[in-house]
Amino acid sequence: MANKIIFPKDFLWGAATASYQIEGAWNKHGKGESTWDRFTHTPGKIRNNDTGDVADDHYRLWKKDIGLMKKLGLQAYRFSISWPRLLPNGRGKPNQKGLDFYSRLVDGLLAADITPFVTLFHWDTPQKLEDEGGWIVRSTAESFVEYTDLVTRTLGDRVKNWITHNEPSVVAWMGYGSGVHAPGLMDYKLSMPVAHHLLLSHGWAVPVIHRNSPNSEAGITLNIGWKVPASNSFADIDLARQDDGRWFRWFADPIYGRGYPSDVTEDFRKMAALPNGLDFVKDGDMKTIAVPTDFIGLNYYSRNLSRAGEKDNDPQTIFPQPQTPEYWTEMPWENYPDGLTGVLGRVYFNYNPLKLYITENGASYSTPPDEKGNVLDVHRTNYLRTHFVAMQRAIQAGVPLAGYFIWSLLDNFEWSHGYSQRFGIIWVDYKTQKRYLKDSAKWYKNVIKKNGF
Ligand code: FCB
Repeated sequence: MANKIIFPKDFLWGAATASYQIEGAWNKHGKGESTWDRFTHTPGKIRNNDTGDVADDHYRLWKKDIGLMKKLGLQAYRFSISWPRLLPNGRGKPNQKGLDFYSRLVDGLLAADITPFVTLFHWDTPQKLEDEGGWIVRSTAESFVEYTDLVTRTLGDRVKNWITHNEPSVVAWMGYGSGVHAPGLMDYKLSMPVAHHLLLSHGWAVPVIHRNSPNSEAGITLNIGWKVPASNSFADIDLARQDDGRWFRWFADPIYGRGYPSDVTEDFRKMAALPNGLDFVKDGDMKTIAVPTDFIGLNYYSRNLSRAGEKDNDPQTIFPQPQTPEYWTEMPWENYPDGLTGVLGRVYFNYNPLKLYITENGASYSTPPDEKGNVLDVHRTNYLRTHFVAMQRAIQAGVPLAGYFIWSLLDNFEWSHGYSQRFGIIWVDYKTQKRYLKDSAKWYKNVIKKNGF
């Protein structure tokens, strides 16, 4: 029989969402347009031309959703704030109705004994700012500080956990490089100033958070995969290095005071992404970005094998697992729990953050409700269970992991995939907006109750 897995006493069990993916009400009560509104309203950008116009209608149904969280015994809820809902022009005059919405949400959570974790930016840039250059220009980073000031003055008495940005590398590379995400620009030369201005705005925002929200903790969330060369050849190992450099170290290194990694700078020069070098870095910026933080949030989903194209490469020796739902989620991303132990150990022992949260982890499976309304999503439960064992191993190795947030509380709008990918532990019927607790949610409820399994 398997040993019992019990987590540290104060370990926080949560679930996560993001504003654009669940709220809907995209143009209600004075909300301004975001880059994701513009992008999804452009035909051909999103699978099935789905949009977040209605999504989970959470803007209207938030009370019910808090009720479901309570039913699960959730201890923490990570959500993001829609910047253009509060500042329709990105700066200037605030929209009181937007402020009221989030204020009531926070009060509702606290009344249900659920700790709010607020992400300030989960990708929905005000379109008005995008029209002026978006994250390519430094003034957007300045506006982000104004927005942070507004949010933390309004909610900072009650919210004590703040995340400045979610996955800045995805915004830089997919929003402005590959163009798969909003605003859909396709030029890697733009990704470089974008990455820098996102990091800079993080550095400027952290002291504002601490000033306006006494005794609060602030950090940033980075995405991290478990990058593995597919053979021991130089080409594969170097590709894994590049991949990790671009997606993780380019962001983590400056945050921890190491500046931009020189090997990755060299990679970018080679791909002609830095025609004028690092000219967007101004005096003092690197110091600003290295502002001390209280924690780091990591989003971990999968392993990534690096296989280089060289003709004379060595034979591949590391292979993906069998193509069955136990090992592969529907994204399709590999279910690879050992990678979670790996990234936790790596980040802690390399960068020494004071503490860590897994701010996202979860699996896409589209198992629907049966005729009784039960959702038998065994593969999701298996994914979660194996990742919880992996977290426990990292904790035993000395990693100060303080909590875990499932992605996601609800099925929701999965960016370029539209509604085709379901990550929720709660099924959402998009026609009726009815919610059904999946079996994984019921299992998670017990884990929370026992602080283990
Ligand atoms: C992450 C995003 C989150 C969700 C998951 C599946 O990259 O932060 O919004 O889409 O992937």
